Amino acid sequence: MHVLGIESSCDETAAAVIRDGNYICSNIVASQVEIHKPYGGVVPELASRQHIRHIVPVVDRALQEANLNLDQLDAIAVTQGPGLVGALLVGIQMAKALAYIANRPIVGINHLEGHLAAVYLLDGLPPPPRHLALLVSGGHTAIFLVNGFGSYQLLGSSRDDAAGEAFDKVAKLLGLGYPGGPIIEKFSEVGCPNAIAFPRALANSDELDFSFSGLKTAVLNHVKRVGIPQGESLADLCASFQRAVQDVLVRKTISALQRTRTNVVIAGGGVLANHSLRHGLEAAINNEGAKLILPPISLCTDNAAMIAAAGTQRILRGQRSDLSLNAEPRLKL
Ligand code: KG4
Ligand code: ZN
Repeated sequence: MHVLGIESSCDETAAAVIRDGNYICSNIVASQVEIHKPYGGVVPELASRQHIRHIVPVVDRALQEANLNLDQLDAIAVTQGPGLVGALLVGIQMAKALAYIANRPIVGINHLEGHLAAVYLLDGLPPPPRHLALLVSGGHTAIFLVNGFGSYQLLGSSRDDAAGEAFDKVAKLLGLGYPGGPIIEKFSEVGCPNAIAFPRALANSDELDFSFSGLKTAVLNHVKRVGIPQGESLADLCASFQRAVQDVLVRKTISALQRTRTNVVIAGGGVLANHSLRHGLEAAINNEGAKLILPPISLCTDNAAMIAAAGTQRILRGQRSDLSLNAEPRLKL
């Protein structure tokens, strides 16, 4: 069974073909980072225009690398939301056109479910049906209790900024560029994470919600006091900020593990590209006698293989959309 996945919810135009739900035949991502860099964030109108330029060649390449033509596909999965409406519509129109021409089923996928479905693309046993999922991206920070594919109970989420958004905003205010996560990570490598005592909002509360806007304000206030640091001090600031985000994510995950008596955590989303977070989370989860399942970085950041993986699961369960499928910018999981 071959499923074509299409993803265009934000600033990556992506297409991928997955065989039998777990084998990646092709996985193409056209990044728009260079276009949005001068603005310090994604400009929705520019994103839509870039998707229009890229979508046909990206899908073509995904089919070519998979060595398949349209007629050999069994279904098409496309991100329906959440995301930027103009950006989503490009992928959705493409998917609908292909589904119509090839007369194949189409299925709309929640982008967040896509991130969680990246786990199907890994070697090894599938996760136990009941597990925790930690999703940390540019748009979302949330912990879910998963009770089998398609059954997600939200345990906690960010009340304000997502963790990735905090990385991006802090990098912008330090004049470091976009996207902030990888840049801050780079500076952090030579900085001291305990140099500045940034707040860990809600870290000790009983709830599993997150809040990162206070941390962003604390960095702003620090910069107002001492100016934009350079050299070693900049590295210290980045490392201290990164550790503050990491501490909260780790503490909440451990608290969710203890509360739900689960023993497997699946993590995903672009912020999980961060090596310090990956190691810190794994060490803390192992310390609880539990296991962390972490996709490689290329499957943590936005891609279409994860959308095709989620699509395969839905198609196998007999679920599909029709050609009235429309973008849902605020789709919930
Ligand atoms: O999942 P993703 O690719 O797109 C969304 O669905 O939002 O996540 C993008 C976010 C951005 O905020 C970016 O700064 C962050 O992931 N990110 C990182 C790293 N790489 C990407 N954050 C921290 N450390 C990284 N290495
Ligand atoms: Zn994402």
